[in-house]
Amino acid sequence: MRPRIQELVDESLASAKRTGKIELVEELAFPVPFQVISDLLAMPTDRGDELREWSQIITATLEPTTGVEDLERAEIAIGKMRPYLNEIIEDRRRKPGDDMLSSLIAVEEQGEKLNNDELMSFVILLYIAGHETTVNLIGNSVHALLTHPLQLETMRRESCTSNMVDELLRFNGPVQHTIRTPLVDVRLNVAGDEVTIKKGALVLASLAAANHDATVFCEPTYA
Ligand code: HEM
Repeated sequence: MRPRIQELVDESLASAKRTGKIELVEELAFPVPFQVISDLLAMPTDRGDELREWSQIITATLEPTTGVEDLERAEIAIGKMRPYLNEIIEDRRRKPGDDMLSSLIAVEEQGEKLNNDELMSFVILLYIAGHETTVNLIGNSVHALLTHPLQLETMRRESCTSNMVDELLRFNGPVQHTIRTPLVDVRLNVAGDEVTIKKGALVLASLAAANHDATVFCEPTYA
C-alpha cells in the first residue's frame, strides 16, 4: 500500500505548500490512516465524519479514566455503527471484491465462517486499532521533533529511518498502556518484594513506564 499512502501524504502536503500552513491532525494525521484503513476494507467514505466520530467515542473508553457517561456514549455510537457496518457486510457478501472485508467474509476454518457480529467487531477493532493509534503517532512524533531541535536536525540530515520511528514510538507512543488478566496466580519479585497477582485480576501494563525504564534505555528522556 506504500504508493497509495505516499499519494495521500503528498496530497495533504501539496495543500500545505500552497497555503504555507497546515493543521497537522485535521489535514494529515487523521485523513491518511483513516483513508488507508477504508481502502484496506474497501469501505465507502461518504459517512467518514460519522465513522470518525463513532470510533473516537469508542476509543475514548480504552482510557483508565473512563466513566459511566463515556460508556453510555460508546454504547450509542456502537448502536449507530452496527447497522451501518451490517449493511456494508451484507452488500459485500452479495458482491465480494479483493479487499480485506471480502477475504474475512470468505475465510473458512473447519467449515466455520465468521458471523456478522465477529466481522463487525473486527472492522470496529481495525478502525480503532488502526487509525486512532497512527493519528497520535504522527501528532506526538511531530510535536517531539519540534520540541527537540537536535533530533529534528538529525532526521533532516539523515532522513527518517525505521529506527527513528521506533524511537519516537518509545519516547511518546500513542498506546501508553494495555490490559492483561493472569490465568493463574503469578508471583513476581519487584525490587526485592514478593508480589502475587491473583488469577483473574485486571493488570494494567504500562508500556510507557517500560519504554522509559532507565535500566534498559540509557537516556530514556532527553534532558
Ligand atoms: C502507530 C501505530 C500503532 C500502534 C502504536 C499500535 C499499538 C498496538 C498495541 C500496543 C497493541 C497490543 C495491544 C495488546 O496486546 O493489548 C496492538 C494490537 C493490535 N493492533 Fe496495533 N498499533 C498501531 C497501528 C495499527 C494498525 C495500523 C493496525 C491495522 C491496520 C493495527 C491493528 C492492530 C490489531 C488488529 C491488534 C490486535 C492484535 C491481536 O490481538 O492479536 N494497529 N496495537
